Amino acid sequence: MLQALYDTPLSSKNLLVNRDEEINSLNAICFYQPKGVYGLCGETGGGKTTILNFIEPGVGKRVYVRLTEKESKEIIIGDMLYKLAKEIEKHEEKGKLLTTAKKSIEFIIEERSETRSIGASGGIFVSGNFSKTTTHTRKFNIYHAYELLDDILNLLIEKYNRIILLIDELDKEKKEEVLIILDSLKNIFDKQGLIVILSLPFAIYREYAKDRLRWNESGNLENILKDTYFLEPLSNEQIQEVILKRLRKYPDFLDSDALYEIARYSDGNPRDALWISQQIVLNNLHKKRITGNIAVKTIKKITKKYFENSLQLTDLQEAVLNTITQYGNRNIIVKKLEEKGIKRQTAYTYINRLKENGLIIERNGQLKVSGKIFYIISK
Ligand SMILES: Nc1ncnc2c1ncn2[C@@H]1O[C@H](COP(=O)(O)OP(=O)(O)OP(=O)(O)O)[C@@H](O)[C@H]1O
Ligand SMILES: [Mg+2]
Repeated sequence: MLQALYDTPLSSKNLLVNRDEEINSLNAICFYQPKGVYGLCGETGGGKTTILNFIEPGVGKRVYVRLTEKESKEIIIGDMLYKLAKEIEKHEEKGKLLTTAKKSIEFIIEERSETRSIGASGGIFVSGNFSKTTTHTRKFNIYHAYELLDDILNLLIEKYNRIILLIDELDKEKKEEVLIILDSLKNIFDKQGLIVILSLPFAIYREYAKDRLRWNESGNLENILKDTYFLEPLSNEQIQEVILKRLRKYPDFLDSDALYEIARYSDGNPRDALWISQQIVLNNLHKKRITGNIAVKTIKKITKKYFENSLQLTDLQEAVLNTITQYGNRNIIVKKLEEKGIKRQTAYTYINRLKENGLIIERNGQLKVSGKIFYIISK
């Protein structure tokens, strides 16, 4: 069962639940749109990589790039170039494309080791007090990286007519950083026949959706992204389906109440559902069947173990959270808190703060205590 519940992005349809709509839309974009940069946003573990795996429009060339190096904008762009070049190296046998890819790989390797060694030998804490000769620092040559990226993309399009470039893991960066990176790549990505799909942090989706027309420091988001997709959390039923599909060889292990608790815990996040299911297996190795009661007991034990120490709630916070477990409507919650002697304004402030901290979440206009917190505070 642990093997079946292993957390890894999917690449075959038999375990996939929902997401047809997103996958079909993105495939249609890849097939029909002449060009453009598109964002795929969602919380971590929500299924971004999984969706990217299912993008197969059947035209042009699909290139998947997973970013791993994250120290700065320069490093991220360098990493993008490096990974793209590495992909090309894998499938090109000869020609200008391969030569440029090889040149790029060499450039990044050399540039990174040189930048690092000079940095380490004294540059880092350079201040005005040092004399000119000792403040010798050398920056990553970002302009050359842009040129090479531009060359590679042009050559790719020349060869395959249409390029579907999938860039994963940009969602792990801060919103501001990502905006700067996207803005700097805007012109390079603006090519006939090039479709770029990037996984982006949720904050970008919010910003994109909130004011499509506002200008900010990094430029108009609408100018950078043609559209953004947001991966909604899965519904309770869909989460249960995720687990059932994974455990199809063990259909009797979890009863329906246990599945319900797993879904309640996960808040619609498949990764969290898989994780807590694994914990339930590990904590009940001798049991043949998990009932709702056993599931609740295990989840409580696990949430206490992992989260209780990092969570210190004041009495007031606890009162607000407990009220939210009983009522979902914000106005009713505030009214109930007022009945307990909590000022209206205080109640609103507390609710907003708990929401910002992720302890409560809002779905379809209803407030609810996040799954992890729910099992810690429920008696
Ligand atoms: N639609 C789905 N149906 C079934 N399982 C899913 C679905 N989406 C995601 N999963 C599972 O949830 C887990 C997380 O998915 P995935 O790695 O694709 O998310 P992610 O958003 O890319 O996460 P990260 O932020 O870590 O990059 C994986 O184990 C995956 O198999
Ligand atoms: Mg991922």
